[in-house]
Order: sequence, then C-alpha cells, then structure tokens
Amino acid sequence: MNDVVPPFGERWRSLEGQIVALLGSYGYREIRMPLLESTQVFARSIGDTTDIVQKEMYTFTDRNGDSLTLRPEGTASCVRACLENSLLQTTGQRLFYLGPMFRHERPQKGRYRQFHQVGVEVFGLAGPEIDAELILMTARLWKLFGLRDLRLEINTLGTLAERAAYRACLVDYFTPRRDALDEESQTRLDRNPLRILDSKNPALAPLIAGAPRLTDSLGPESTAHFAQICVVLEAANIEYTVNPHLVRGLDYYSQTVFEWITTELGAQGTVCAGGRYDGLVELMGGRPTPAIGFALGLERLLELIADQVPVVQAAADVYVIAAEAAQRASALVLAEELRDAFPALRTLCHCGPESIKAQMKRADRSGARVALILGPDEILEGTVTIKSLREAIPQSRVARSAMATALSAFVT
Ligand code: HAM
Repeated sequence: MNDVVPPFGERWRSLEGQIVALLGSYGYREIRMPLLESTQVFARSIGDTTDIVQKEMYTFTDRNGDSLTLRPEGTASCVRACLENSLLQTTGQRLFYLGPMFRHERPQKGRYRQFHQVGVEVFGLAGPEIDAELILMTARLWKLFGLRDLRLEINTLGTLAERAAYRACLVDYFTPRRDALDEESQTRLDRNPLRILDSKNPALAPLIAGAPRLTDSLGPESTAHFAQICVVLEAANIEYTVNPHLVRGLDYYSQTVFEWITTELGAQGTVCAGGRYDGLVELMGGRPTPAIGFALGLERLLELIADQVPVVQAAADVYVIAAEAAQRASALVLAEELRDAFPALRTLCHCGPESIKAQMKRADRSGARVALILGPDEILEGTVTIKSLREAIPQSRVARSAMATALSAFVT
C-alpha cells in the first residue's frame, strides 16, 4: 500500500481528470460505492474457488459479528449498489467509478495490496455494439496518452450453458493427464478447470495447446456476437488477437472477455481488463440483465505514461509576506483579496513570526514567481510591494487597487 506524496498527488489528479473527461464524452456517469461490503457480495459473485476469494480478500468480523470485506474489485459492489438504488430499471445505464481496491497479493512491481482502478459498467445492453464501444473507448484512452505498445487480446467464453459444457470437456481432457499438471493446475482441475488454460507455466504449454477449444462448441448466437465485435474492431482499425486461452480470474464472466497488455511492465502487464457478465445481476438477486464492463489499473497506467504527465514542482505562484507582527492580519486579508481576483492562482501566505529574510527564503523555496510584501509604510499608504523572485523585474510598490493589474505581468 503506497502513499502518494507531492508532487505525485497532482499527477494522479491530472491522470484521473483526463480519464473522467474521456468517459464523460461517451456519456458515462459516476457512481461511488463504499470501500466495505458484506463479504457475501464478493464471495458469491467473484466465485468461491477463485484466487481473489480464496486467498486475497481482506475480510474481518465487525462489532456486530458481521463479516465484511474491503472491496477487491468494483463490479460486484456496483451491481449491489445498482440493485439497491433501482438503477437497473433504466436500460443502457452507463456508469463509472474510481478508487482504491484491496487484494492481499504478493507485492511486486505493478502489483500492490491497495491499488486504484477506474471501472466502467454498462447494464441492460445485450448486443455486441456495447462490447465494441467499450474497446473503442479504451483504445481512445491509449491514443490520448500516446500509448502504442498495448496489445488487445479478446476471447469469448460463450453463454453460461456453453461454458458449463466446455468445463466438462476440459475435465474429460485433463483428468487422464492429471499427473502431467503442476500442483496449481491440479487444484484448478478440481475447482475451476478453465483457469488451467491461464497457466503461466511454460512446461504446460503443449498440454494446454492440445486442449479442446471453446470456440469449437459455441452456439450460433455466441459465434455471431463475437464475430460482430471483430467486424467493428476491424472497421475502426484496432488490432487484436483472439486468445482462446484468455479466461480471466473472476467467475462472473460469460461471452466476451478482453485484456489490454503491455510488455513494458514485466510480469504485471495487464493494464485494463474486462468482459461481459450477463448472469451476475440475476445471481445477486436482480432480474436477468445483460451487463459488461472493464477496469483499468491506474498504477500500471501511470507507470507507462510517467514521463508524459507533468510533475508540478512548485507549491505556490505568489507568496505573501508581513514585515512585522503588526501586518500579519493584513497579509492574510491581502491573500484573500488575491484569491478573489485570481481564483486559479496558488497563493501562500506566510504563517509565523520569522524575520523578513527568513520569509524571503521560504518564498523562494515555495517556487513562487513573486512575493508580495506588507510593511508599516505599505499599510499607511494603502500599497503593497511586489518583488519578482525569478525574473529580473525591478521591485515596485503599487496601490492595493492596482495590485491585480500589476500582478498580471506574473500571471500567465
Ligand atoms: P481484474 O482483472 O481483476 O478485473 O483487474 C483489472 C485491472 O486492475 C488489472 O488489469 C490491473 O491493471 C489492475 N489490478 C488488479 N490487481 C492489481 C494489483 N494487485 N495491483 C495493481 N493493479 C492491479 C476486475 O477487477 C474486474 N472488476 C474488471 C471488470 C469490470 N470486469 C467487468 N467489469
């Protein structure tokens, strides 16, 4: 779990602002869910046998004896919130959320125990257009950030029934070959055989390559749905690879799944991932509702674009100084006047009894371009002294009424 300290706080805010603006341009609206949910919200939806539920959730019993969990992802919380707030009566509900998620994973570069996602969820749209639109939207995001090295992998898991039938095929294939599997895949064979396809163990690659493919047992509707997404991607010139082994680590998916992957981040290369989850709303007590979404990992995205988001080093633009104790109150008022006149300007007013020399040093360190000084003479005359801290502009004393105009020279 990381602290974000200045100047990186501004960098985060800038990144989030750009993403939110882009989502807004597609008509997505923000939803905010609590960080804690009843454990059941995640256990049932993500799947009892998944790594997240088995090993990674921060779960505790509260004072009432209820089991609560810090959200490991946002989809299940979002469905819960939509059901409780009757948001699913509107067809085509397009939502996004942004915030921390918690998973007790082994930390490494790009993998943290508190990480941040921007998640997008759409409800009520069954056709392939929305699947394609989500991918187009993410592609636009990469373009906005100048990212060219993200690779798109897509797959379809078929309907829940097709997926169940395929699961049985996989069990038939792997069971006689059980001894050739590693320990992790043997466990997966018992609990979640589709996840064997996702194994990163190169020794298993030939065995996995020989496994039956889901695409061979898909019904015509699933095949057509997937084909239509590919048509849009091709029409929009978005390169993609169909990866029949892409199954995702959460159980709620059906039909389309996709991931945007980079090789630049080492082992944790998936920047954005998602897919359809047409059965989840019903599983969580709602009416059958088609749904699709994705989440992108902000730490990973930030790592990729670190050199593009400017780091703001300076804390202030203007530093206000009182020469003596008697002018301190006036200095605070002057700073307020400045904030009225230039709301976007960052004005720091010195607080404390330091000498003028010490205050000038602070002003310099703050990164401000200009210092405003109030001494006894300035108070008597109703003026303020303006001292440039960066440029060779001579110091001047101006009437308070002319201060805004005088400062304009420094405010670009
Ligand atoms: P996920 O694949 O578990 O999907 O996570 C989505 C993204 O979150 C990952 O691709 C990665 O960028 C980031 N991420 C996940 N775990 C970590 C971690 N420990 N440290 C840093 N980044 C991480 C979901 O969470 C689904 N809820 C996505 C979704 C939304 N599907 C449908 N709607």
